[in-house]
Amino acid sequence: MTTANKPVRFPSILHGGDYNPDQWPRDIWDEDVRLMQAAHVNAATLPVFSWVTLQPSEDEYDFEWLDDILNRLQKGGVQICMATPTASMPAWLAQKYPEALTVGYHGVRQKQGNRQSNCPNNPDFRRLAANITRRLGERYKDNSNILLWHVSNEYYLPCFCSVCAEAFRKWLAERYGTLDNVNNNWNARFWGQWYTDWSQIDTPSANGNLCLTGLKLDYDRFQSDSMLACYRAEANILREITPQIPITTNMMGPYKPLNYQEWAKEVDIVSWDSYPRWDDPPSKVAFNHALMRGLKEGQPWMLIEQTPSVQNWAHYCSLKAPGVLRKEAFQAIAHGSETVMYFQWRRSRGAVEKMHGAVVGHEGSGDTRVFREVSALGADLKSLGTQTLGGIVQADVAIIFDWDNWWAVEHSSGPSRDLHYLDQVVAWYTALHNSGITADLVSPAADLTRYKMAIAPLLYLVRDTTAKKLSDWTQAGGTFVGTFFSGIVDEHDLVTMTGYPGPLRKLLGLRVEEVDARPAAKPNSVVFDPPLDNVPVTADAGLLCDLIYPEGAEVLARYGTDFYAGTAAITRNTYGSGVAYYVGSALEKSALKSFAAYLSASADVSPVLPSTPDGIEALVRVSPEGSRLLYVINHNADAVTVGLPEGAYLDLLGGSQSTSTLDLSGNGAAILVKV
Ligand code: GLA
Ligand code: ZN
Repeated sequence: MTTANKPVRFPSILHGGDYNPDQWPRDIWDEDVRLMQAAHVNAATLPVFSWVTLQPSEDEYDFEWLDDILNRLQKGGVQICMATPTASMPAWLAQKYPEALTVGYHGVRQKQGNRQSNCPNNPDFRRLAANITRRLGERYKDNSNILLWHVSNEYYLPCFCSVCAEAFRKWLAERYGTLDNVNNNWNARFWGQWYTDWSQIDTPSANGNLCLTGLKLDYDRFQSDSMLACYRAEANILREITPQIPITTNMMGPYKPLNYQEWAKEVDIVSWDSYPRWDDPPSKVAFNHALMRGLKEGQPWMLIEQTPSVQNWAHYCSLKAPGVLRKEAFQAIAHGSETVMYFQWRRSRGAVEKMHGAVVGHEGSGDTRVFREVSALGADLKSLGTQTLGGIVQADVAIIFDWDNWWAVEHSSGPSRDLHYLDQVVAWYTALHNSGITADLVSPAADLTRYKMAIAPLLYLVRDTTAKKLSDWTQAGGTFVGTFFSGIVDEHDLVTMTGYPGPLRKLLGLRVEEVDARPAAKPNSVVFDPPLDNVPVTADAGLLCDLIYPEGAEVLARYGTDFYAGTAAITRNTYGSGVAYYVGSALEKSALKSFAAYLSASADVSPVLPSTPDGIEALVRVSPEGSRLLYVINHNADAVTVGLPEGAYLDLLGGSQSTSTLDLSGNGAAILVKV
């Protein structure tokens, strides 16, 4: 069962977060509800890790405590994101069914003592997870205070056990039909790896198959599908019992093992956990939000976890300075979030997360800096009412992000150990972001008609359908940008035998014959001749240098050094009513920024603001009713005056009016509506 595509609407911005009442004595619960009210908390997620508390043994259940706290929360005006507790298997389960525990890549079975440590294909785990899910669903199906189902928590760990191996063989048989097809698609004559019986196929492993990249790619797909099947099994039960309640599972941004583009088809609303590290620039947070937003074609999503102050797991768990939490909340809302939620409500007394920030600290009082900031933010969110809800972020640029490609690129042996797909996509996103241009991150299957420019960084794996879509879209007037090491293999990681960049060759009007890897200490350079507006004439370029032979494309820049100095490095090809650029090497950061701005201007894509000072981020969300909100966020600790597009504006957060310029305090945010 997949979801109806009706966007989820909440009654107001949800403000709250993970609440673990069963980790505390019951006499604290009323105080929790009182403090939640004081902090303008209107939503709580529970009981995420309470499987053993709800089911102390296979045939024993205890829901009384959950009934009790749900009543107290409802009386206190706090609505519920109801979690299935299956992320953490009870010790009795692991003891009784030891094969329910995952086996790692090194062949070692996990022991009990962690979360997400279940084999996704283990039948006992699946049966027991379905059972507790059904019991929760049946028990609370008439509880009108439940807003949302939150299935499990951060699906996480691939498994390499024998049950998974058997399920993998079935998965392959369904996909490929015959064993010969499998062998051929993996090029299995290589090193004599040809399989003569299905039973010979095993999972990849540290001491096993290291050479068939097609096998590894299929195993990545299979494990993502297996974990998705766990989610689906629970979601289907809940959908059957409470069809009116939307369902989500909390995602983790760019998390490689899970192809969230596939997962998103089966959640009603995307939700994700944002934990920027102390050294993550705001553009990285923006990238993550945009990636999550793109999972459901730009539909609003949920910031379902963030820390109100510190994590416990980063190398340096730095504090969020005053105002940063609020600024990050409005950055998320600007990117399409309908919620501001925390991990967690009350700081743990013991175990590994006792140093993780929470709204209520160890002292248990509301009289702390963090609590005051959360409460003030809660008041702001409350005052916004429903004004921000449902708005769609406006973007003219799509950056294509492809999980299959991510897996395939990183299984490739050569050409460079520094080649990381995510880095390349982030580099392009950052270049646009720092020029004030909004980009969406979309799957290769996404409809591009609403975009003026589409960028596909490092699209090594290209399906024929993707190539055709990109070509047709460019032909009809789009601006396409491709980069080095693209169009090398098909969806099976088999090289396209018609020359690189394979099915993109005609669109780009060129052929790539060889690829040179450049160590960071030995970059090449590119020289633009003639110079382009606002782009440096010469720029460092490195990582890879594609050796390009134009077949109709005009040369915009040439390599500066090495035996291929003077040959094409960056090209432009007119294609139908559109144009296709090829960037044959990785430009250094500031050159990429100016070149991306040049490309945007040529594609008639404008920045949101007339000019974008450093550390200022601006986005526009348009509501289904057509109201247009301009969000401006100041990521600087100091005040900044920002020039506005023409018009007079009212700031929904400050109530004040501005024309032509906006004064934003350090870490300030404004939500402007034209008056
Ligand atoms: C994740 C989990 C939470 C918690 C936080 C801590 O996001 O979902 O349960 O462990 O990390 O940062
Ligand atoms: Zn397994």
